[in-house]
Amino acid sequence: MPGLAADALPWALPALAGAAAAAHAFRALTLDRIVEHSEEAFFSPRVPEALDGYRIALVTDVHGIGDGKLERAARRLSAGGVGLLLLGGDFHRDAERAARSIGILAGVRAADGIFAVEGNHDSRDALFPAMRANGIAPLLNSGARVRDGLFLGGASDPRAFPPEPSAAQAVSGAAPGDFVLLLSHNPDIAMSQPTAGIDLILSGHTHGGHVALFGLWAPALSLSKAVTSHGRRFMSGWARSRDGVPVFVSRGIGGCYPRAFARPQAAVVTLRRGPESRSEPRGGRRRGAGPSRPRKQPPAAP
Ligand SMILES: [Fe+2]
Repeated sequence: MPGLAADALPWALPALAGAAAAAHAFRALTLDRIVEHSEEAFFSPRVPEALDGYRIALVTDVHGIGDGKLERAARRLSAGGVGLLLLGGDFHRDAERAARSIGILAGVRAADGIFAVEGNHDSRDALFPAMRANGIAPLLNSGARVRDGLFLGGASDPRAFPPEPSAAQAVSGAAPGDFVLLLSHNPDIAMSQPTAGIDLILSGHTHGGHVALFGLWAPALSLSKAVTSHGRRFMSGWARSRDGVPVFVSRGIGGCYPRAFARPQAAVVTLRRGPESRSEPRGGRRRGAGPSRPRKQPPAAP
């Protein structure tokens, strides 16, 4: 028998590698071409009572998606009832296509409006006027009181400077007692900048690793610092900033294929008032934490 096992080994390894490659090819041709509409519950005692149940849609990394697919996603977001739509940057490089996608997203019904930040692939000189013309408010190290008790800041992109991103400047208009959101295309600023005073950070940029081996490890993130300096930490889902602030990273809705085990995503985060332990973002640790494994979403409330 030992001899039989030794004989099988040279065949077993290529067979396993072939099966893994086939699984990734299958995913890339099927599920990973379909936008996932995910629902995330975020509990915090800092959520004002009036905002308990408030729904925030996050659409990032639009580049590459077809107009029809984006229109379907926009209709579904409208039907789901959201208070706020946040656009996390990276539109199409082509200005005409970018303007069309902005027009489509501007049609999403969001009670308190639509706000956006730039991504590293964007030209703000073309993008921001198109946004304003469609009633979308671009944020560039600036913020807005979305409604009583809710302040939103938006950071510039670190790869599109100047200006250098400033999380502190973006949320400087928040009042004591506000629940403070920070929208930043690139999640790395959660590690490079102080984030104290921010309650929740929403980002995109990493595309879930784009091609992630069984969703666990993405060569583009782990073998290079071209996309992120923090490896898998911000691959997708929930992590924490260097100060322990929860960070949600969308895989992005875009259609830059192939994607494998990194399905395009439009997320809705629902704010819930309650102990954070009910939605403890897994995979992160408090100040000084090193890279950690991102998770799909906070555990469900008991
Ligand atoms: Fe992107």
